[in-house]
Amino acid sequence: MIRPSLRRQSRPLLLSWALVAVVALTSIGEDRPDRVIADFEGTTYAPWIAEGTAFGPGPARGALPGQMAVTGFEGKGLVNSFAGGDDSTGTLTSPPFAIERRSLNFLIGGGKYPGETCLDLVVDGSVARTATGPNDRPGGSERLDWASWDVGDLVGKSAVLRVVDRRKGGWGHINVDQIVQSDRSRGVVTLARVLDAERRYLLLPVDEGAPIRRVKIALDGKVVRDFDIKLAEGKPGFVTFLDLAPFLGKRLRIETTLPADSKALERIGQSDEVPDEANLYREPGRPQFHFTSRRGWLNDPNGLVFFDGEYHLFYQHNPYGWDWGNMHWGHAVSPDLVRWSELPIALTPREHGDWAFSGSAVVDRANTSGFGTATAPPLVAAYTSTGRGECIAYSLDRGRTWSEYAGNPVVKHSGRDPRLLRFEPTKRWIMAVYDEGEGRRAIDFYSSPDLKAWTFESRSDGYFECPDFFELPVEGEPGRKLWVLSAADGEYRLGRFDGKTFTPEPGGKHRLWHGNFYAAQTFSDEPKGRRVQIGWAQGITFPGMPFNQQMSIPCELTLRKAEDGVRMFARPVAEVESLRTGTRLATRSEGGLGSGSEDGLGPVGDLLDISALADVGPSGQLTMTLPGVVIGYDVGRRVLTCNGTSAPLSPVDGTIALRVLVDRGSVEVFANDGRLAISKGLGPKGGGDRMLKARAQGEKIRFRSIDVDVLGSAWR
Ligand code: FRU
Repeated sequence: MIRPSLRRQSRPLLLSWALVAVVALTSIGEDRPDRVIADFEGTTYAPWIAEGTAFGPGPARGALPGQMAVTGFEGKGLVNSFAGGDDSTGTLTSPPFAIERRSLNFLIGGGKYPGETCLDLVVDGSVARTATGPNDRPGGSERLDWASWDVGDLVGKSAVLRVVDRRKGGWGHINVDQIVQSDRSRGVVTLARVLDAERRYLLLPVDEGAPIRRVKIALDGKVVRDFDIKLAEGKPGFVTFLDLAPFLGKRLRIETTLPADSKALERIGQSDEVPDEANLYREPGRPQFHFTSRRGWLNDPNGLVFFDGEYHLFYQHNPYGWDWGNMHWGHAVSPDLVRWSELPIALTPREHGDWAFSGSAVVDRANTSGFGTATAPPLVAAYTSTGRGECIAYSLDRGRTWSEYAGNPVVKHSGRDPRLLRFEPTKRWIMAVYDEGEGRRAIDFYSSPDLKAWTFESRSDGYFECPDFFELPVEGEPGRKLWVLSAADGEYRLGRFDGKTFTPEPGGKHRLWHGNFYAAQTFSDEPKGRRVQIGWAQGITFPGMPFNQQMSIPCELTLRKAEDGVRMFARPVAEVESLRTGTRLATRSEGGLGSGSEDGLGPVGDLLDISALADVGPSGQLTMTLPGVVIGYDVGRRVLTCNGTSAPLSPVDGTIALRVLVDRGSVEVFANDGRLAISKGLGPKGGGDRMLKARAQGEKIRFRSIDVDVLGSAWR
């Protein structure tokens, strides 16, 4: 946590910089009026000829059904090959025309697949120039941007333009508009800025509507940071930051491609504080007891481990954008699982195309890896390097800095997300890792004496991404333990493990979590011997905030007997109760609360820990509502619903118990002591009172009690 009291006077610096246009503007002496080849403002493509289905009956007027907002085109129409979605294909070909100017300028967006989503200039029957859009990964932008070809050598020739969409799947489309012959290039050029790193943070203004630029920062000619960012040209949506600590006192060169007249590089500043530090964690949309990153995007929790008094939460992190991308390992530590301090980024991708995807971390107590000593054991993390395979890194300073193992990758296969664990009976390390080679979706088990040399042991089919694997005692059955094998979607199997092979129990897969919950992991070396899990509350967004996505509340997992066999239960860790302010609204009623009518409780705040107990009969409905939250239990159907997500739930001894945690952006419901959990974003909060309302309708239905604890912020 960065405390406002530590603030120093800071002024964004614009010191000692120089803007360098690396590529000179292509322009020749003459400056004749441009010649428009096509502006796609008509209702049909004529005289261009469309083949296939991708281009639809004529120019699109912006986005097509199912497409993100398309921006950057001129006038009302454009070529958009998203007709019928990404899987449609086709071509769109111009009539022949004479090349009369030195530059061919056009707007282009969509997929970045050379030869598959592209605009081709065809001269003498062969492709003389070609261009694609900027996107080849999830996320990205549908914005069209100017591009130019220097066709000086082709002046006088006859040419044909062909828009090609031969690509299916993500970003399998191309957008084109405003094709113009000109004496001046309108494409992007390489711009650079030299900057002396004098303050702790480089401030990078981001505009989510701007095109993605790839920025490289070099020190003494060597690229030290390389990332994608939607650099703001004008007013930024938010300002993000890059930690300059490793470079202080050094001269850096920032390079990217931009329109020649762009001012975006000049808007980059320096400061000793993170942007808007005084307001950090006090932003109106900021969750107050769920982890979010100071800036940018997060997804999967990674490397959950307790070491030397600290819980470590690493996480998939895009520090430079509001969407997925640039995968780093962000890092935060906590003494109690609820009060987190964000630390500098732990794993920075080595180079572009080599992102640091998900993985795990362990304390190598006996120093089997040799990275530390027996008295100062190393932390060892395993992660997927997208360009290399499963890699390991180690830290000798409590996770603050990490070194790559020189022998990386340690496992090479088609897969990702290595989960490390210790298996004492064989005194070996185990890696459970997602394998999608040859079209399968499986979890592979490897073993190792030292975390470096791994041997394939076995494969368990039918899982997708982000395995977690651990052993739990079965409560109430002394001596009985079962292994839990889960994957990103939260479904799990119970079974046995002998250090080589996982043998599932009969009964198939089970599900505990529903709603916005994905890629959960549990802590290694939890000091109280608990199995504590954190998931990514996938899809809970924070529009207008400088960050996006949150983690779920940490939960203790247990195995207990349920009505249909042994099942996993999740209960928020007891530490959450330390956030209770002491303000409690409680109602109890002999006659039954909310019976037939609606009882109001409140007004309540927006950070709440609610416990409710209800008796249910044969049929009827329980409802609890709060601003942004609707929870209902259909007794006859035995279904619990929270903000639109439903899951089966049976009463226990004729009762339903609910524990509900409400934060600024989310609600989590734990039913019947954690037999079932639902994570959801808040719905519209509406105006009016902030009342908690309860209603019980039907025979023998009543809320016996509702207790509302007001929670405080974990950030203060
Ligand atoms: C799951 C996942 C992982 C991958 C990571 C990349 O959400 O796709 O499989 O390692 O996210 O961010």
